[in-house]
Parts: sequence; C-alpha cells; structure tokens
Amino acid sequence: MTNKELDFVNFDTVALHGGQTVDPVNRSRAVPIYQTTSYLFDDTEHAASLFKLKSQGYLYSRNANPTIDVLEKRLAQLENGVGAFAVSSGQAAVSIALLTIVKAGDEIVATNALYGGTYTLFSKTFARLGVKVRFVEGSDLQAISTAINENTKALFTETIGNPSLQIADLQALSKIAKEHHIPLVVDNTFATPYLIKPINHGADIVVHSLTKFIGGHGTSLGGAIIDGGTFDWDNGHFSEFTAPESSLNNESFLEIAKEKAFIVKARYELGHDLGATLSPFNGWLFIQGIETLSVRMKKHVNNAQKVAEFLNHHELVEWVNYPTLPGDAQNSLAARYLPKGAGSIFSFGIKGGLDAAKIFINSLQLLSHVANVGDAKTLVINPASTSHSRLSPEEQLKSGVTPELIRLSIGLEDIEDLLADINQALQQATRK
Ligand SMILES: Cc1ncc(COP(=O)(O)O)c(C=O)c1O
Repeated sequence: MTNKELDFVNFDTVALHGGQTVDPVNRSRAVPIYQTTSYLFDDTEHAASLFKLKSQGYLYSRNANPTIDVLEKRLAQLENGVGAFAVSSGQAAVSIALLTIVKAGDEIVATNALYGGTYTLFSKTFARLGVKVRFVEGSDLQAISTAINENTKALFTETIGNPSLQIADLQALSKIAKEHHIPLVVDNTFATPYLIKPINHGADIVVHSLTKFIGGHGTSLGGAIIDGGTFDWDNGHFSEFTAPESSLNNESFLEIAKEKAFIVKARYELGHDLGATLSPFNGWLFIQGIETLSVRMKKHVNNAQKVAEFLNHHELVEWVNYPTLPGDAQNSLAARYLPKGAGSIFSFGIKGGLDAAKIFINSLQLLSHVANVGDAKTLVINPASTSHSRLSPEEQLKSGVTPELIRLSIGLEDIEDLLADINQALQQATRK
C-alpha cells in the first residue's frame, strides 16, 4: 500500500481509490473528513499567491476542501474529465455550470424533457437574469440546430430525461454543438458514469445531482460539475475566458488553467461568489456512495427491468415507458448509449387515469411516496402534481409529463416484495 495517488482506469478500482493520496502521517485508509473552514498559511506571500491562483493549496472551504477534493478527482476520473467542482445540490451544479458560460443577453438551447426544477430555473430565473432559454423537442435535431443563433452560448440536455426517459442522441447533439462552436452540457444524473460517460460521446461538460444514485441512500444533497477539457474557449465567442482578469495579475482563465479553464473559472468566480458549498460531511457520504455505485446500479437496473416487464404484462396497466422493454421506440438509442441498462427510473399509466393513479400511490405499503429518485429504497410519485407542478399544463405535455403518469425509482429490495406491493396497490386502485 503506497501513499501516492495511483492512476487506474477501470471503473470499480477508480470508484474505490480514485483521487485519494493516503495521509502519510496518520495513514487513514478511509478518506478522512476535513471538517474545517480554513487552512494555515505559511506566510503573507503564500496567502497572496493562493488567492491569485499562483500556487496550489487550500485557503478556505468555500473554495476547496481536502475531503471534497477526493470526491472531485474521483468523479472527474469516472466521467473521463480533466477536473470537477462539487457543490451543494444538483440545482447549484446546473446553475453554476451554465452561468459560468452565459451572461445577460446570451441564449441557451435546451431539450424540453427536463427535470421540473431545471425547467423552471431556465424558464423563470434565467429569464429574469436576461438569459433566454429556447426549449426544443430533443429528438428533433433539425429544430435544435435551427434554434441556435449567434447569441446562443450552450446546448443543454439530460442523458435520460426526467421523467420522460427520453435518451439524448449525444453524438448527434455534439455534432450540432461543434458546428455552432458552443459547448454541449449534459445532466447525467439518471444514468451515472457507470451506465454512460457523456464526455466519451462528445459532451464538453457534465453535471450531476449527487443526491440521487451517487449518494444512493437518500441521505444528502449535493451536486457536481465535470469539465471534459474538450471545448475550445478561444474560438472568439467566449471573451470571459480569454480576457485579462485584473484579480489574476491580468492573466486570463485560459492562460492560467489551459484545458481546465472552465472548471477553474466556475470555482473561482461563482463557487466563491454564490457560496453554494458542499459540506465536507456530505462530500464524504458521496465518496462512500461512489465506492459501491456499480454494485448498486447493476441491481437497480435488474430490478427495474423486472418491474417494467411485470407492469407491461399487467391487465390493469395502460402503458409502460421504459427504453429497454421489447418494442419500445427507444430500443436502438438505449442499445447504442446505455448497453448496461437504462437506469432504474421509469413511468407508467394505470387504467382509470389520474384518479386510479392517486389510489395506487396511496395504497402502496412498501414503496415510499417521496420527492426523490435514485435511493436504495423504491420510490414513487406523480410528477404532474409535484416535481413538475410549476410547469403549465402545455409545458408539462411538452416535457412528456401527462397528468396520470406515475414515476417509479426502483430500489434494491427483493423483487418478490416489490411486485407483491405493486400488485396489491394496482388491485386497490382499479377496484370498482
Ligand atoms: C435530472 C436532475 N437534475 C438535477 C436535479 C436537481 O438536483 P438536486 O435536488 O440535488 O438539487 C434533479 C432533482 O431531482 C434531477 O432529477
């Protein structure tokens, strides 16, 4: 056992060891929790050089922290990026990633099948900040291309849309983004890097809600931004990356950080200014989650496939939307991008519509009715009346959210117990 940081490439080894240099003094095998706000400077010169990014090291835990540093390095390795910045929630990750790129007057093109919180962040809060987001049907590549104009600074999508499960054609989207010289930003929360690494398919920046599968146990909120290091910020459209920064001795982010310019800028500016800081304890919990991510994801996917097939054959079920069900319209996209499975979140409609859906949810004994996904426990919700309720009925339909849609996030329980609970609730819901 060495105290050097080792360089592995295989998923599980990275998930267990990535980013950690064992402390040579105390030799703690587990990553320690550095529950500290601040770090002793050697002298005034050292303090000043840290603030100007002239030397590497910790200065204040709003900027960086040794526990969170391990998490960030591990996530960057798992997603095949050059660097990462962990923040206090998935919402903070989406906001900081995009606001590092855009300013008032700029535009973003986004696919429309998005998490409700992201949709309202874009349609209301970003609009108030002077950033226009154009929502486009994700499978209509021509419409996406047409929506991009000279003010557009980013293309945004989710790998698997929440809750429509629309799978992004990342290679096609990346081609469009490259043609227009803008970065492709991808929310990979539903898939995790175990099922797909968007950067390998042309994404430039990846964001996560760590709250979901990465944490995996429904205990903590967190988010992360991962920089692929692939985007050319020096293409004439992103002057904030190339202009001299007075606070950085008149050097630009590109000069100082090169291929890491985006992630360094995100941390230095909005990480510092907005203060959406991840606590070291939550960071540590996410490290624990990552260590078992692949083991959990395999069972999540396995259980989800079985529940989807059970519902698909059930006489009381009207429809099931899961990309790996035989005959599903997304079979070929799933095979291409998600060969290990399409995650464990999916939706279905019960015979009897919204009224029956409500009785179904209220009748469940084992499944938990909560506003979350990606927990080890199986969760259920009606998005139209909850997570997507701030969208207008028209916006909901465009996002793939019908009133009666029931979203399941299948956990790690024994499959027999899940099927029995779902079956009894279906019977209750359709009892005349
Ligand atoms: C796809 C997706 N992205 C981002 C978020 C926001 O994450 P958080 O709740 O950690 O802020 C969510 C939350 O459900 C989500 O489903």
